[in-house]
Amino acid sequence: MIAVERHGEIAVLSIDNPPINALAQPVRKALLDAVLAADAAPDIRAVVIRGAAAHFVAGADIREFDEEPRAPVLSDVLTAVEAASKPIVAALHGAVLGGGLELALACHFRIGADSASLGMPEIRLGLLPGSGGTQRLPRLIGIAQSLALMLSGDPITCERAHSLGMVDRIAELPDLLGAALAFAREIVAAGRRPRRLRDEPVRGGMPDPAFVEEQRALVARKFPGVDAAREAIIECVAASATEPFDAGVALGRERFNACRQSDASRALRHLFFAERGMRPRAAPRPVATLGVLGAGTMGSGIAISLATAGFDVVLVDTQPAALAAGIERVRTTVEASVAKGRMTPAAATATLSRVRSGDRIDALQSADLVIEAVFESLAVKREVFAALGRLCRPGAVLASNTSTLDIDAIAQASGRAQDVIGMHFFSPANIMRLVEIVRGRATAPDVIATVGEVTRRMGKLGVVVGNCFGFVGNRMLYAYGRENQSLMLEGATPTQIDAVMERFGMAMGPNAVGDLAGLDVGYRVRRERRDLPDDPRYYRVADLLVEAGRLGQKTSRGAFDYMPGSRRPARAPEVEALLLAESLRLGVPRRVIADDEIATRCVFALINEGAQLLAEGIAASAGDIDAIWCNGYGFPRARGGPLFYADTLGPSLVLQGIRQLGELHGARYWTPSPLLVEIAGRGEKFATWSPQ
Ligand code: NAI
Repeated sequence: MIAVERHGEIAVLSIDNPPINALAQPVRKALLDAVLAADAAPDIRAVVIRGAAAHFVAGADIREFDEEPRAPVLSDVLTAVEAASKPIVAALHGAVLGGGLELALACHFRIGADSASLGMPEIRLGLLPGSGGTQRLPRLIGIAQSLALMLSGDPITCERAHSLGMVDRIAELPDLLGAALAFAREIVAAGRRPRRLRDEPVRGGMPDPAFVEEQRALVARKFPGVDAAREAIIECVAASATEPFDAGVALGRERFNACRQSDASRALRHLFFAERGMRPRAAPRPVATLGVLGAGTMGSGIAISLATAGFDVVLVDTQPAALAAGIERVRTTVEASVAKGRMTPAAATATLSRVRSGDRIDALQSADLVIEAVFESLAVKREVFAALGRLCRPGAVLASNTSTLDIDAIAQASGRAQDVIGMHFFSPANIMRLVEIVRGRATAPDVIATVGEVTRRMGKLGVVVGNCFGFVGNRMLYAYGRENQSLMLEGATPTQIDAVMERFGMAMGPNAVGDLAGLDVGYRVRRERRDLPDDPRYYRVADLLVEAGRLGQKTSRGAFDYMPGSRRPARAPEVEALLLAESLRLGVPRRVIADDEIATRCVFALINEGAQLLAEGIAASAGDIDAIWCNGYGFPRARGGPLFYADTLGPSLVLQGIRQLGELHGARYWTPSPLLVEIAGRGEKFATWSPQ
């Protein structure tokens, strides 16, 4: 765990716990022993602590947070490091994050390579730096800068850290160890004493209360649901100025332990593991040139994402006007990113130069991977895949962005089903991080790996799912939407439902989402489906709105009204009148609906459908389902996703609730998934369940 080397009078301790040198218990123990030994050795005059391989230390071992802390806890190890009588130099490179940065702060001097990236990302997991970081950092850079670093969760460059005074020196040598040794020898030669932050006063005064308010608001926007961690950070950092050092450290540890056990932090840790990305089971096929077929809304967004990631892309559309509009959309979107400061002008020029256009499908002949985004019609897609199957080079991967159609039916038309796969992007495709990777019956393992690798290089999160109507995300959305729709016939309004679901934490209410996507999209899909329930109420409100010309934002009228040029949903009295008349016509009695009923029905519908997808093997794990809903559908991250939320409530409580709903509203929609019954019966959790 710790390699010890002697370089004359300097001991070099290299932390070696690949891949990220996480400070797991064995590492903490070995580090403590090595520091104490070096400090006691008579012929050692200084110590360098560094990371072996790619990083200094990227943080704690997150899995340990589920259990009681095991000695030696990091906070105690760092107390010992700081107390050492000989100067200790931290040599920083790669990731210096969380506990890694706290370790660097406990050392007496810091030297960093250009490449080092320093940060305290704990807030992202609903936590705070719990090992003295909230006390040491303000003594080095002041309260305001400390708060900014801890509350943003974003890392800073070594250069920035140097200008703030967090790093004493930037290594000039390409070899960091050589530079650190030279620094340590200089310190010894000058007879410098260890610089212990615990003995120093906090720099500067208290920040302006307006600054703290601004930071609070920033966290609320960026990381909703982590109020406890946010307040703990503010409290502990402020305490650094008023409390003795050890009391401040103790306070930080106490707050850390409370946050660690909170539902929000557990949920965020669950997502951390769920979002680590798929583990490929085969070597990917090489991909250099990509083709995108269909230059509409999705095709142009996908082309932007690919080009931004450095791929060469041919964007093809057989309608010259659509092609021109698509290319124009690529250009204006990239230029807007420059204007918003998200991209440098040079990167924009490079990105645009990577997108070529083609008005014939033949332009895709030499592509290694084609992503199809033409109209959502099985007949059109089958025709297109038959052509691609004939024309593309052998081994080229053919992906469809369909959101509802049968991947196997599309694959069959290509004549090379093993090369065909679904890549279900979300709109806007250049922004949304999620891609459902849909494996068909015949999809080859290296095709899954190839698409997974391209998705990863696009900076997106790929989740592999099985083939069925709606795959994972949209099939659950149908269940959720069904309850939204029924509730409106029973007496709720779009305004009430959206307010309840937004208070639950959804990024947008279901009716605002429908208006944004366009109610006509689902309308057309439902006309093509043959397997809809024989129920006059099923999605009746959505159909009614479309039939009344209320398609959503694009017509300034949907479930809500929109002022010209505005995206803000406003109550639509016309819709409320339509609902009343339709309830009457269908004989659905209207009543006052409690907010709780709305949240329960919408969320339990999601959970039950999710359980069923897991049981059917369409989703491989609860984590996959949760990652899909948190990244593609705005489910609150601090609740961990629909199935983690079910675990938090307790599966047996959810089961009981679904049975009650069945008694009230009938078994058609409220039959508990057998997997829910099984998990509840055995006292298990979704998050840890896996098929035998
Ligand atoms: P769109 O209507 O904006 O674009 C489709 C484009 O395909 C048009 O430019 C059309 O000219 C072109 N096209 C049609 N037939 C073609 C052919 N045979 N050869 C070449 N080009 C052809 O549609 P949109 O919204 O971009 O959707 C495309 C696909 O993406 C659909 O399968 C849709 O279900 C899926 N999708 C859409 C999402 C959305 O939010 N709009 C989200 C996720 C998937």
